[in-house]
Amino acid sequence: MRLIRGNPVLEVLLGATCGGLLVLLVGWSRGGWMPSGKPTYSPRTEDTLTFTLQNFTWKAQFPLPLDREPTQVFPFLLNHPDKCQVSRGVHFLLMLVMTQPQDQVVRDAIRYTWGNETAVPGVTIRRLFLMGLSSFSSSSHHLLEDEKHGDLLQVGFLDTYHNQTLKTLMGLEWVVQYCPTTHYVLKVNGNVFLNPSLLVQQILKAEQQPQPDFITGCIYRNRIPIRRQSHPQYMPLDMFSHARYPPYCCSPGYVLSRPLALKVLSIARKVPAVHLEDVFVGLCLHQLGVEPTPSPPNTFLMFGRLYNRCDFRGFVLVHPFKHEELLQVWPDFQKGNTTCPLE
Ligand SMILES: *[C@@H]1O[C@H](CO)[C@@H](O)[C@H](O)[C@H]1NC(C)=O
Ligand SMILES: *[C@@H]1O[C@H](CO)[C@@H](O)[C@H](O)[C@H]1NC(C)=O
Ligand SMILES: *[C@@H]1O[C@H](CO)[C@@H](O)[C@H](O)[C@H]1NC(C)=O
Ligand SMILES: *[C@@H]1O[C@H](CO)[C@@H](O)[C@H](O)[C@H]1NC(C)=O
Repeated sequence: MRLIRGNPVLEVLLGATCGGLLVLLVGWSRGGWMPSGKPTYSPRTEDTLTFTLQNFTWKAQFPLPLDREPTQVFPFLLNHPDKCQVSRGVHFLLMLVMTQPQDQVVRDAIRYTWGNETAVPGVTIRRLFLMGLSSFSSSSHHLLEDEKHGDLLQVGFLDTYHNQTLKTLMGLEWVVQYCPTTHYVLKVNGNVFLNPSLLVQQILKAEQQPQPDFITGCIYRNRIPIRRQSHPQYMPLDMFSHARYPPYCCSPGYVLSRPLALKVLSIARKVPAVHLEDVFVGLCLHQLGVEPTPSPPNTFLMFGRLYNRCDFRGFVLVHPFKHEELLQVWPDFQKGNTTCPLE
């Protein structure tokens, strides 16, 4: 097991990539947001968050990222530390695809469609599937799957809806530790249609240098927290009491620069935790004073769309989209735009 605290790799990486943030981040990793297996609380009076955190744990039923002694961190049970070995300077996008352990068919569909690492000429893309533990399936067949494809990252906590914030943070943590060369990180869920060429065009444009505080996707502004308990996105008042959320990029897919990923991770410890990962990232951005960059209208669709080759050339992401359908439409989508009217 690899402890983050005192991890020389981490500290060297951090030192190399962002001198200024080093102090902040090392301070943060000493404090440790990684949950321990057994939630034991030692309320710290100086920690004004303890209150929120206790209630967070009570509600979300998991040891909180933020106020933790890192006696036992969650290791990456499956890892590919070499995945990002790419020379610096090339345009580089890392896809972190969120799937659950039992979703192998979904992962297979993605591997053969939008997750294809060589689908966009001139850009280096790396794809990894991030997953936690399954409560009902053994992990042995993931070993086989990983041997075949070499693209699974598994973290040692239960992969549940309420642990999504933790999963996202672990993904960013992986980027910090093992992926110093990437310019952008795409956090994307498995149940979408993605148009990688358009994504790359949109985010990389002709720019030489990635924009440091860049994050885009479908942006929700002035959203009112849902207080109805039966709703999956229920937000208890004691977890988040404000009338509106700050702007945030919706969970199905958003892309951010690596420098911003570092900043989000560094501030995460100071932000009251909420289990909705997109809201949580929004709260971190708010704290950092970073505004999401709007994407062109109608490029990230959150309410689905019937497939049509020409329309879909203009969408970066369509959510939700079934993996069976993805496999069906992909060959057609790849036929290109020759029969589509020019915009
Ligand atoms: C947690 O919330 C409950 C109400 O749901 C409240 O009674 C309790 O005081 C809160 N605890 C803390 C530690 O904030
Ligand atoms: C990925 O894309 C390349 C180039 O378009 C193609 O040659 C290759 O067969 C694709 N791989 C998979 C697994 O579909
Ligand atoms: C989150 O993961 C921890 C560690 O595996 C587990 O104990 C907890 O039940 C999970 N939380 C939820 C809400 O499933
Ligand atoms: C069609 O594709 C070509 C290259 O594949 C591109 O240059 C052109 O802009 C595309 N046209 C439209 C309407 O999307």
